[in-house]
Amino acid sequence: MNPHLQSSADPSRSSEEIRQDFLQFFQAKGHEAVPSASLVPEGDDTLLFTNAGMNQFKDVFLGTGQRPYSRAVDTQKCLRVSGKHNDLEEVGHDTYHHTFFEMLGNWSFGDYFKAEAIRWAWELLVERWGLAPERLYATVHEGDDDFGVSADAEAYDLWHAQTSLPEERILYEPSKENFWMMGDTGPCGPCSELHVDLRPPEARRETPGRELVNADHPQVMELWNLVFIQYNAHPDGSLEPLDDQHVDTGMGFERMVAVLQGEESTYDTDLFAPLLQAVADLSPRANIQGYDDLHIDEDDEREQVRIALRVVADHIRTIAFAISDGAMPSNEGRGYVIRRILRRAVRYGYQTLGLEEPFLHRLVDPLLEKMGGQFDGLTEQQEFIERAIQAEEESFLETLGTGIEFFERVVPHVTRFQETDGEETDGLLGELQQDAQALDLLEKAYVDADDSGTVLHRFARTARGGALPGQIAFLLHDTYGFPIDLTRLMARERGLDVDMEGYETLMDRQQERARAASDFAVDQSSVHAWQPVSEGDASVFVGYDRDVVDDAEIRAVRGGEADDAHQYEVELSHTPFYAEAGGQVGDTGTLHVEGEQVRVLDTQQEEERIVHTVDTLPEHLEGSVEAKVDTDRRDQIRAHHTATHLMHAVLRETLGDHVQQKGSLVAPDRLRFDFSHFDAVEEDVLRHIERRVNTAIQENIPKQEARNVPIDEAMDRGATALFDEQYGDRVRVITFAPDFSMELCGGTHVDATGEIGLFRVVSEGSVASGVRRVEAVAGRAALGHVESELETLTQARGQFRSLHTSLPEAIAELQEERDRLEDEVDQLRRGQLSDQLETFIAENTTPVGQVSVVTGRLDRASTDDLQELGQQFRDKLGEGAVGVLGSVDEEEEKVHVVATVADDLLDEGQLRAGDLVGTLGDRLGGGGGGRPSLASAGGRDPEALDAVLSEVPALVREHLG
Ligand code: ALA
Repeated sequence: MNPHLQSSADPSRSSEEIRQDFLQFFQAKGHEAVPSASLVPEGDDTLLFTNAGMNQFKDVFLGTGQRPYSRAVDTQKCLRVSGKHNDLEEVGHDTYHHTFFEMLGNWSFGDYFKAEAIRWAWELLVERWGLAPERLYATVHEGDDDFGVSADAEAYDLWHAQTSLPEERILYEPSKENFWMMGDTGPCGPCSELHVDLRPPEARRETPGRELVNADHPQVMELWNLVFIQYNAHPDGSLEPLDDQHVDTGMGFERMVAVLQGEESTYDTDLFAPLLQAVADLSPRANIQGYDDLHIDEDDEREQVRIALRVVADHIRTIAFAISDGAMPSNEGRGYVIRRILRRAVRYGYQTLGLEEPFLHRLVDPLLEKMGGQFDGLTEQQEFIERAIQAEEESFLETLGTGIEFFERVVPHVTRFQETDGEETDGLLGELQQDAQALDLLEKAYVDADDSGTVLHRFARTARGGALPGQIAFLLHDTYGFPIDLTRLMARERGLDVDMEGYETLMDRQQERARAASDFAVDQSSVHAWQPVSEGDASVFVGYDRDVVDDAEIRAVRGGEADDAHQYEVELSHTPFYAEAGGQVGDTGTLHVEGEQVRVLDTQQEEERIVHTVDTLPEHLEGSVEAKVDTDRRDQIRAHHTATHLMHAVLRETLGDHVQQKGSLVAPDRLRFDFSHFDAVEEDVLRHIERRVNTAIQENIPKQEARNVPIDEAMDRGATALFDEQYGDRVRVITFAPDFSMELCGGTHVDATGEIGLFRVVSEGSVASGVRRVEAVAGRAALGHVESELETLTQARGQFRSLHTSLPEAIAELQEERDRLEDEVDQLRRGQLSDQLETFIAENTTPVGQVSVVTGRLDRASTDDLQELGQQFRDKLGEGAVGVLGSVDEEEEKVHVVATVADDLLDEGQLRAGDLVGTLGDRLGGGGGGRPSLASAGGRDPEALDAVLSEVPALVREHLG
């Protein structure tokens, strides 16, 4: 603890107490305590991850959503790793940025405004928590002509009037600092921040704190941001004033804990200290005992180790929380961000902490000990989180290993070129050409070169200058996940540079490609505008109770001639059409307007709008509309949706409570259900699950539907919710027998399970590490499935017109027969080959001194054949002989050799078959081994076989000396 920081600081005050203190302070002021939203924002495509406490209230600010309270308080899980608010590169290098952090916030929705927000912030920090007022600074917005917003003199005056802050500690700051926007669009407004100066007195006397506010000083930092939401920002940059004024505040929890515990950095608090210690304990390096216990003399190295410890301690929080909220590491979107963060942590561990085995998953336990009780979904999914991380670590370490092999293969060639000092290098080119593996890798690196000649030429040019080509550094980065500093470090250890210019060019090109791809996606959604048709309530969904309405009105349309679009869309006053959500596909049907009928091809949700995609716009847009869902299709969808719930319940009952829904599709003809589980579900377990679901169907359990249930009440009753789904304050609960299936769900269901008729599982498999997928059919689709299986069976029976045996027996007999015949063919072939051996030996012997060397190809032989023939070959050769047989497997493009050495030569001790195949395997692009008398090798370079065999006599001569 640093005694200068804060006279009132108390290291024994735990982070849990501080979090509770904040919540209670605002609860006492009439705020509703609400749970953190998921890190994965539901239904907001403008955002990859939740990055601020206000995300879950965006609709309230914009006036499109409502809550039953006008004041709220919470701690929100946030990630700032992509998009507008992105701190990733800083994390670990300084002592106060994080990828994952908690944002404590209090909100007013059209209720109190600046005066209360400012007064209460001061009350909490100074009067309740005892922060020294003379260390605090407030900033306010200085105004912005571009936005047409004037200086926030109101906030300035309120700070002055309501607190003891003197004028020199209230600062006007530009929009960059004091105008808060969630992204490029959405709710926004001027803000006012509180900063704290934690420097010791001398430093504070020397440089006034006001000069360091917003200057990235590790000890003069922002603690709390009070945003006064007043506008909605549009894509063209214009600001539209909102009807109401709101307050959105965000306090950096980790920083606040550091201040209150009297620590210099967030990493010294009880939130991180146990994690840092756990990482240090895992590190096999004896000189790393703890974050503050490093037995390292070099300042620079000590700092590198601390950075690595911080990176790992920070990143494990992000990874574990993201996975618990459903963002699994993957190759795209959110999953890719998590994958990159995980790899960053593994790399720092590998490179600096000596952690070459998977280790991150072992940090989940100490993390959950601290956080498991604070947020839902962590402890319940602990094993799943650990296994998901471990699997990802393993595969990355393997990639890293392959990358290192690649590096080792290519580097000797660079060194050889470098050593020529610009002299004749034709010989080296030849050598490189012989190294099929290296050449293969180079061709992957120089993707834009037309032929291998060009590749060699370009490689040689850079290598002569003593540099590892940028193409190789890029491939290592792009395919094997090597950060450029790792590649440079490894190159430096071999006395080589990296061609950074070439590397940067390729990186730039890749980024341009990525940008072009994402621009395209944005363009698509913002081309066409809605045209209003009539006024009044809009997009009211009535489809739980009806599948047809005859008194709807068109509220707005989009597309059509004026818009030059290929798609037409309609919004209605109210509609029975279900918009795709929660995996259930959108409804289809018809709209009748003034005697004209148009088809509804699909229904989708777009923010608050229910959007009907139609084949054409009706001629008359005004007038009463009959909207009719395709009931038959809807019925099939309902059967599949209820079947999904029943199966979910049975899966949890059968496999365990760790089963969490990870994805779902509910269509008229099938259902797909993804869930967390690590092992394949065995066939008999699947059949058991299927039977259980069918029993529930036969029991004809009635549906109980409860709408508008307060979320807390639903959870208390034990309803199944998805950890990664964001729910409103009131939810719909669908129950089929309270002790069997009770889920929060917005979809449509059968009235009683009997309507489903039949349920069949079609397949089970893996979709990602730790996530299984079951595909199944219900209702008419299940019947169809059974019929087609029976049909197949009948056909098969027809083909086995055997009267005495059943179908499985007939198939088993057939299989046995086939195995027997295959064995017979093998025997015959080996017999033939064996008969040929004598002639083969006679025709292929070369004397080397006293020794007979017999080499040649037997191309019809498989690896197994060669193994078997090896011994016979050796016996036939007799004393004084060395033999090498080779064969090529054309289909698999593999090559095998087997080598034998006679006993009398072994006694002399100069020659061993194992050594011989070692050399041969190397040249064939593979490896081998075995006993001194008999050994074999394989490789992936069949073309090299003849050359390799012809070298054998020389090789034997060499060995015999
Ligand atoms: N929404 C504000 C922020 O994130 C409080 O800083």
